[in-house]
Amino acid sequence: MNEQPFSLSMSERADRLEEEKMHEMERIITRSTLAHLMDGNVKMDTSVEMRARHPGKFFLMADDPRLPPMPEKPTLVDYFRHRFASTAHLLQSATHAFKGGQPEKVVLACLLHDIAIVSFIRRDHGYWGAQMIEPYVDEEVAWAVKTHQALRFFPDESVGYGYPDLYKQLFGPEYRPEPYIVEEYKRARAHKWYMTSRLICVNDIYSFDPNAKVTLDDFVDTIGRNFKQPKEGLGLDSSPSAHMWRTILWPTRFL
Ligand SMILES: [Fe+2]
Ligand SMILES: [Fe+2]
Repeated sequence: MNEQPFSLSMSERADRLEEEKMHEMERIITRSTLAHLMDGNVKMDTSVEMRARHPGKFFLMADDPRLPPMPEKPTLVDYFRHRFASTAHLLQSATHAFKGGQPEKVVLACLLHDIAIVSFIRRDHGYWGAQMIEPYVDEEVAWAVKTHQALRFFPDESVGYGYPDLYKQLFGPEYRPEPYIVEEYKRARAHKWYMTSRLICVNDIYSFDPNAKVTLDDFVDTIGRNFKQPKEGLGLDSSPSAHMWRTILWPTRFL
């Protein structure tokens, strides 16, 4: 290895650093194929290749020592504190809904609407987020989280919601949602819970008051009343979405 570091690309250097860090660790940590796809690579970490690179070591099958420790029986609040990369937007949206006198169901929907983005995956986040919470919240809340994915792109002047300026800046003025989003919007528009989902959009504010104090403590009781925390721990229960929470709990376990 007499390659000059300057001849390496950014991602090669990052890979090398990662590799060096890995050698110091007790266990072999693997990345999922999805993580590689997100780097633009159609490849996977295979056990043969990984063991050859880390002789004598076993694969990680427990907590990832690089991540904050979680309690034995984690709650949604623990995920907020130790796994969600950013909570300001969620807390600001929920605070906005609460101050606007919205019912607790709407406040909870605002608090949870983007949890997929902050903990799991950006792509199709409304759908992922809804599945994550579906077994634990009122059906209407999960439906609203799912559907805000589509409603975001369509104005509703009756509640003063216009197409977000931010989207023009982020996606360009020419961007148009894909047909599946248009179809979802049409179905949602005719649904009895339309307004619950629409209220997520109304409270989904992007320009925040930097001085506004928001804290999860303000919503712990709301969560307690409306989120059915499994006694085994969130992710360690047998609900249809427990595996999603487990993946966030232990993202690098070999299996
Ligand atoms: Fe969202
Ligand atoms: Fe949002």
